[in-house]
Amino acid sequence: MHSVSLPTCSIDDADSDLYRQRIIAAKKQLGDKVMILGHHYQRDSIIEHADETGDSFLLARKAADSSAESIVFCGVHFMAESADILTSDKQSVVMPNIRAGCSMADMADLPDVEACWNELLNECQLNDPATRENPDSPALKGEAYLVPVTYMNSSADLKAFVGYHGGVVCTSSNAAGVLEWALERAGENGKVLFFPDQHLGRNTALAMGYQDDDIAVWNPMLKPDWNDLNSSKFVLWHGYCSVHQRFTVEQIDDLRKENPGALVIAHPECDRAVVDAADASGSTEMIRRYVADAPSGAVIGVGTEIHLVKRLNAQYLDKTVVCLDPGLCPCSTMYMIHPAFLADVLESLVAGEITNQIVVPKQIAEDAILALNRMLAITA
Ligand code: 13P
Ligand code: SF4
Repeated sequence: MHSVSLPTCSIDDADSDLYRQRIIAAKKQLGDKVMILGHHYQRDSIIEHADETGDSFLLARKAADSSAESIVFCGVHFMAESADILTSDKQSVVMPNIRAGCSMADMADLPDVEACWNELLNECQLNDPATRENPDSPALKGEAYLVPVTYMNSSADLKAFVGYHGGVVCTSSNAAGVLEWALERAGENGKVLFFPDQHLGRNTALAMGYQDDDIAVWNPMLKPDWNDLNSSKFVLWHGYCSVHQRFTVEQIDDLRKENPGALVIAHPECDRAVVDAADASGSTEMIRRYVADAPSGAVIGVGTEIHLVKRLNAQYLDKTVVCLDPGLCPCSTMYMIHPAFLADVLESLVAGEITNQIVVPKQIAEDAILALNRMLAITA
C-alpha cells in the first residue's frame, strides 16, 4: 500500500496525474467487471472515475441493481456494508480504504441499543413487533409496539437488529415515508425508536406535523427521564454528525444580510434551528438537484460537506454556491479515500486479487436485508 499523507482539514486536492493514469488503465482492463460508486462527499479526483455518484440511498439502489463482479465503494464503511448486503454472494464489494468510517454511525452500538430497547419495552409496556420466525407480522390492532428505525449511517449489526425486530432502514431522502410506515406499524399507542441521528429524527418528525412533546431523546450516558419517554411518540438516539453540527442560524443570517434574496438549503443532519431557518432541506442528492433547478444568477448557501458544495459551485457557473460555514472542514473520513488507494484496489482486481473486501457475516446480512428491503419497498 502507498504511503500518502491525508490532511484532514484541507480541501487542497492536489491530484497526481500518475494516480489518474493508473486508475484509467486498470478500469479499462476491468471493463464492466467493475463498477465504481462515488458518494457526493468524495473529492473530485475520485468522482471523475465514478460510474455512478449519488446520496446514500441512490448508491444503495445502484449497488442492488448492479451485475458487476466487483463494486468499488468510494464512500464510508456503512455504505459499503449495505452494498455487500444488497449484492449477491458472487459479487465483491471493496473499499479503497477500509478505515473510512463515520463518527456518527459509531455513536450507537448494538449492546447500548439492545439495553435501550429492553428498557423501553419494559418501562413503557410496549410489544416487540416481530421475531425472526415471523419478521413481517403486522401490528395487531389495539396493541402498542416499539418499532426500530435505523438511519443508513449505522453498522450492519444494528441494521440486523432492526430487521429482526420488524423495523426498517431510512436515509435522509426517504425518512418521512419510512417514519409514516413505522408509526402505522407501531399502532396508536406505540412508539418509534430512531437511531443514531437525533437531528434527522427530530427534523423529520417536526416536518410531519409532530410537536416537541412527541419527541424524547435517549442518551445512553444519562439516567432516562421516564415521564418524557412515556409520553413521546419518537425516541431519538443522542447521535449527531460533527460536520453538520457546525452550521448555525447566524451563518444563514450573515449570508442573507450580504446577499439579499440568497437561497439556503441544509442537510437534515443539521440542527433543527438551521433547518427551520433554511429555505429547503434534503439529502445530498436533493441538494444537488436544488442547485441545478435554482434560477440563473442565484446565490445559494448550502449546509453540508465542503467537497459537494465546491463541486456544485464549479459546475453551475451561472450561480454562486457557497458553504454556510466558510471555515468548514471536509468530512475527515470521506477524505480518507485517496486516488492512490483507488488505484491500488483496481490494480489488485486486474491481478485477480480482491483486497479490502467488505464482507458482512451471513447471519447479520440475513436480518439486515429485511430492514433494507423494507426501505426499498417503501421508497419504490
Ligand atoms: P446522504 O444520504 O444525504 O448522502 O447523507 C449521507 C451522509 O453521511 C451525510 O452526512
Ligand atoms: Fe458520517 Fe457526518 Fe461524514 Fe456523513 S458527514 S459520513 S454523517 S461523519
